[in-house]
Amino acid sequence: MKFGVLVSATVLAARLAHAVPTSIADAIMSRASRDGIDLSVLDTMPDILAAITDTYNERGVQYPQDDRKKAARVGSRGVGNIFDIHAHAEPDWYRKVAPFTGGNADRNDGGGTPSPAWNVSSHLDFMQTIGISHSILGFTSPSANAFLGDKERTVALARLINEQLAAYARTYPDSFNFFAAMPLPYTDEAITELKYAVQELGAVGVALMSNHEGHYLGYDSFTPFWQAMDGLGGRQVVYVHPTTPWLNVNETWIPANPYSDIDESRMEFYMETARTFIDLTLTQTIHNFTNTHFVLPHIGGAFPTMIDRVLKTVHTELYESSLEIYRTRFWWDSASPTYFHQINGLLAYDIPKANLLYGTDYPFISAAVTAADFDSIMAYPGLSDEEKEDLLSNNYKTLFGDKLHFQ
Ligand SMILES: *[C@@H]1O[C@H](CO)[C@@H](O)[C@H](O)[C@H]1NC(C)=O
Ligand SMILES: *[C@@H]1O[C@H](CO)[C@@H](O)[C@H](O)[C@H]1NC(C)=O
Ligand SMILES: *[C@@H]1O[C@H](CO)[C@@H](O)[C@H](O)[C@H]1NC(C)=O
Repeated sequence: MKFGVLVSATVLAARLAHAVPTSIADAIMSRASRDGIDLSVLDTMPDILAAITDTYNERGVQYPQDDRKKAARVGSRGVGNIFDIHAHAEPDWYRKVAPFTGGNADRNDGGGTPSPAWNVSSHLDFMQTIGISHSILGFTSPSANAFLGDKERTVALARLINEQLAAYARTYPDSFNFFAAMPLPYTDEAITELKYAVQELGAVGVALMSNHEGHYLGYDSFTPFWQAMDGLGGRQVVYVHPTTPWLNVNETWIPANPYSDIDESRMEFYMETARTFIDLTLTQTIHNFTNTHFVLPHIGGAFPTMIDRVLKTVHTELYESSLEIYRTRFWWDSASPTYFHQINGLLAYDIPKANLLYGTDYPFISAAVTAADFDSIMAYPGLSDEEKEDLLSNNYKTLFGDKLHFQ
């Protein structure tokens, strides 16, 4: 009898597993077509929809009907209370689209770092090792910009990335939230995706690349996007991730990196962070959209080094107002080895310690290196024990406010 119950439960589960995929895929496709997006331009669409469906089915979670205004739930899974704001999802289907980080689908020349294998269970294991209870997932470079110059595929890829991220966040609500990918430089489509990701899928912010098809974030055509975001109501969080410095020369995309001896993520990503935040400053994008807060990767990369250089020589009129913004609406993640020495350069600008956040860059930085980085934070003499605890487990609460509901 017991055996019989077990069999019928298994059969039922199999039937459900068979029935549910179609409906999730249908729902995703019908919302995409409602928003003018043709997902079928990606020839891997069926695999991607199957992967997203599998994510929901792992724990029998429903596809979101409407997440509007629902604050995401954040728990502490009892493994420490550390919050990771710089963490990447890298599902197998995405590694097929973009095998190299910083490269793109048509560029298998090894110019980027080969994207590491990743899955939810290895990510959860990693979190357990470090004592991280919650991670905000985003896709790393090239994110939705894997098909340079191809609007339809960029827009479709952004949508599917966001559906996949929402599936992780829905399925593991105590462990994950997400930053949505945006199909810039296509501003109108990015505004549509922004509203969908934030209002319907429940993204806690957006992840922008340092440049989108060679355009830095202060680019004129992006202003309506900043306007739309700032006008969504309440605080908006923009996480910026460095990417390859793309130049379009004579209709050909080339990475503007004359130094090819090490991969672009090592040095160019720091330069990229500097370029785009200088651009956001000089165009006064950061001045004009006052609801918008920025998370800077790697405690700003090479950006802090450039501040005096640029704003004490040219555009001196922006110096004080910019520093004021860097000290209030800018937040600085610790990802990769930043607390051995680099942190001193940032803090020299009187950046409040309450704006320091913890980030890992997993899976691009291994658990062993992350542990060493963690130790360097703990050994850093410039922060008190309380300030270190806040960096790891509290400052993000001030950043996200009512976007996250703390258990
Ligand atoms: C997840 O990734 C880890 C590390 O790459 C691997 O050992 C493991 O087999 C993977 N698990 C699944 C379910 O794919
Ligand atoms: C651009 O392409 C045209 C036509 O192929 C060629 O004549 C020209 O030299 C190219 N310019 C550069 C800068 O490569
Ligand atoms: C911000 O406002 C200033 C005027 O105060 C204007 O000159 C500048 O172009 C604006 N920049 C953006 C990106 O809106």
